[in-house]
Amino acid sequence: MRFDILTLFPPLFESYLGQSLLAKAIEAGLVQVATHDIRNWSQDKHKKVDDRPFGGGPGMVLQAPPVVECALAVQRLTEEGRQLSPGHLVVLSPRGRTLNQAVVQELAGHQRLVLLCGRYEGFDERVFDILKPDEISIGDYVLNGGEVAAMVLIDAVIRLIPGVLGDDASSLADSFSTGEGWLEFAQYTRPREYRGHEVPEVLLSGNHEQIARWRREQSYLTTRRRRADLLNPNDDHKAD
Ligand code: 6GU
Repeated sequence: MRFDILTLFPPLFESYLGQSLLAKAIEAGLVQVATHDIRNWSQDKHKKVDDRPFGGGPGMVLQAPPVVECALAVQRLTEEGRQLSPGHLVVLSPRGRTLNQAVVQELAGHQRLVLLCGRYEGFDERVFDILKPDEISIGDYVLNGGEVAAMVLIDAVIRLIPGVLGDDASSLADSFSTGEGWLEFAQYTRPREYRGHEVPEVLLSGNHEQIARWRREQSYLTTRRRRADLLNPNDDHKAD
């Protein structure tokens, strides 16, 4: 899978791209990531890409021409003389649809994602009119820009690419990816006792059927206590 990131701050991605899981996926050829500096498509000798909003108001607006030209050029990119697929264009923006595991799965179905990161007060609206991107937000709060959101999206998507996780089974047991969409059960490792806190006896029993039943119950109870909104009305930890 290939990601192209369109940003005013390519260096922000350097340490993230070099980080272990993603670095290994890139090295193994499972994931390809390229960053593109929107400023290189500025039509201004000072490489300016923003201007004051028509109608007045605070802040600056990213201009349509450099953003649109950058996106179109990246979508038309070739590799070894061959045209890449134009990919699925995503704009990271607080007014987009909210990212959740279902959206992550949908995005993981694309061979190529082109991620456009906003900054300042936003883009000139014609960016959306012309490019018709899929607008995605990572939650109901405001970030200074789409870069961190793009990293969140990439991080969530690459976990679903076969071979990226050491153990393909581990993404299946994660919160939101359990068959039910419940939260993950509690995990324990050594030592068996720590500061008076003991590992639940059942996990030491070696009875795998009982352990599976306990985990399912824990998963259900944690979800009911913390995120009842994730449960279906007829969900029950006993039903199998
Ligand atoms: Cl994608 N961008 C910005 N600037 N703020 C956000 C966001 C994105 N998602 C939530 N808040």
